[in-house]
Amino acid sequence: MITVTTASELRDVLTAERRAGGTVGFVPTMGYLHPGHASLVARAAAECDSVVASVFVNPLQFAAGEDLDTYPRDPEGDARTLEAAGGDVMFLPHEDEMYPGGRSAMLTSVAVSGLSARWEGAARPEHFAGVCTVVAKLFHLVGECRAYFGEKDWQQLAVVARMVEDLSFPVDVVGCPVVREPDGLAMSSRNVRLAPAERAAAPVVHRALRAGADLVADGEADAGAVRRAMAAVVAEVPAATVDYLEPVDPRTLEPVDRTDRPVRLIAAVQLGSVRLLDNVGAAPGGTA
Ligand code: PAF
Repeated sequence: MITVTTASELRDVLTAERRAGGTVGFVPTMGYLHPGHASLVARAAAECDSVVASVFVNPLQFAAGEDLDTYPRDPEGDARTLEAAGGDVMFLPHEDEMYPGGRSAMLTSVAVSGLSARWEGAARPEHFAGVCTVVAKLFHLVGECRAYFGEKDWQQLAVVARMVEDLSFPVDVVGCPVVREPDGLAMSSRNVRLAPAERAAAPVVHRALRAGADLVADGEADAGAVRRAMAAVVAEVPAATVDYLEPVDPRTLEPVDRTDRPVRLIAAVQLGSVRLLDNVGAAPGGTA
């Protein structure tokens, strides 16, 4: 595996790959890679001739006061993880490479309205414009590819897929299943910040989602009842604060009144300094 830090090096490598007839898989990340990221790289390696992963903590998607400065970083460990998972190129740009003149010099922003407004967008109003702007830039640098995103950030996946559709990027967006710890906690780079007691309590989010999915599978068609059942599970952990815990339409992310069809159960729960995001599919009969 090679590491490149500039857009021109990345283009050179990918141009050579494409001249040789190879297909490109792309995994955008903010680094501090865990087995969830590795699963995206491994899937890309299985489906594409060459795999690029970007490692860039994107300042545009952090609001003032969020954890940009303390976001965990480990580029050497990331290189080892990528290589072991089958990555070929690590793109590790400095902020100046992505935002010449500084991020405040950026006059262009890419925003997907509607889909970005609720849930994470309501809690973090600038977040998805920051995500879409950097992902659009990365897609331009990487070019035609299959791009792999984890389903843990279900709303991000929906927003990026819509951006790709609306702006005709030559990119196939591939959503990949959430990778979990043995106790059900969805893997996330930020989990490292959970204090031991918080880490022990954190699987409550997945337990709540599973309880909701089981109710839907058993035929509960009232979304309010499903929401209340999930909230009751999280309430077992007094330190956990629910931001949202909702049955939504899997594509539009609009809340639903009825759960008599496939839905996505989405959650954001604050535990200490960590915002835990998770989601599961649910359907009557249990086949979402
Ligand atoms: O999911 C992430 O890690 C980031 O939001 C992404 C897609 C790499 C953009 O910075």
